[in-house]
Amino acid sequence: MKGDFQQYLSAKETVDDRALDRRVLDRVREDLRTSASPRVLEAGAGTAAFCRRLLGWDDVPDCTYVAVDTDADLLATGCELLLARAQDVGFEARVVDPAAADLGFSLDNPEFTHVATLRLRGPARIDVHLVAGDALGVAARGTWEFIVAQAFADLLTPGGVERLVSGVDRGGVYLPITFDGGTAFAPSHPDDGAVVDAYHATMVDDSGERLGATAGRRLLTLLPELGVGLDAVGGSDWVVSPLGGAYPADESYFLRVVVDTVADAVDGHVAPETIDAWLETRRREREENRLHFVARNLDLYGRVG
Ligand SMILES: C[S@@+](CC[C@H](N)C(=O)[O-])C[C@H]1O[C@@H](n2cnc3c(N)ncnc32)[C@H](O)[C@@H]1O
Repeated sequence: MKGDFQQYLSAKETVDDRALDRRVLDRVREDLRTSASPRVLEAGAGTAAFCRRLLGWDDVPDCTYVAVDTDADLLATGCELLLARAQDVGFEARVVDPAAADLGFSLDNPEFTHVATLRLRGPARIDVHLVAGDALGVAARGTWEFIVAQAFADLLTPGGVERLVSGVDRGGVYLPITFDGGTAFAPSHPDDGAVVDAYHATMVDDSGERLGATAGRRLLTLLPELGVGLDAVGGSDWVVSPLGGAYPADESYFLRVVVDTVADAVDGHVAPETIDAWLETRRREREENRLHFVARNLDLYGRVG
């Protein structure tokens, strides 16, 4: 990823807000409403954008919310943002001693670092635990009624998905904004095909097993094989356009990171002069508020048990 990752995640939020499939989200909210104080695990939580979104729902559920990311700095920023968001939407919010809270798994393990625990009281009773470490390890250690992983599953191998969902005995698995192999820019450029194909090819890891660019469609069959019956699936494409002559919110920065990341990823796979010409054109178009971008994603929701 090229650029400031925290600023990129922040700029991504308005893009995600537009993209999320409302029908899938409604189904998720319905199931959360009817669960009694579920224990929710968010894998690859970043700055806790999904938890902040949930706090604003008019049917926000009582829950224990464990947000895990390998990057403790992202979670520390997420903690500040969560406190502010919770107070904005009518919660009393404070940081508390984690010893008083029941995480459902032991933090007494060098693989995990406790970043913060927040107690939120108001429209609902929510304890949020921010934990740095491998989310798949946390998933497999607990029993969860709900697992959320936004913009994350493309990073996993099928074995990783199996570990992730193994933490749910009976409950929901929600994988919103799962990349599904479509990256498009407009206006068209003669080198788009070469650059975009090479970019998608870089998303597999050395083992060749990572779900990568075809994560969304592969999960359509993999989740049921792992015992997750699909209940709702929808498209959640990212669409960024300079409407009215300017990009909304901080989406110009989002696009800058996307364009620079694509060019950087294909270095060594596409001729340098091709990359340079493509990147120079895309950067100029973005600066002139003329560049459009679409990425194909799927939202998947299913239940175990
Ligand atoms: C594309 S970002 C998405 C962040 C957040 N879900 C969002 O949509 O704003 C993927 C995140 O997964 C985290 N990550 C990658 N592998 C992980 C792992 N094995 N366990 C926990 N977090 C991981 C990264 O640090 C990064 O914050």
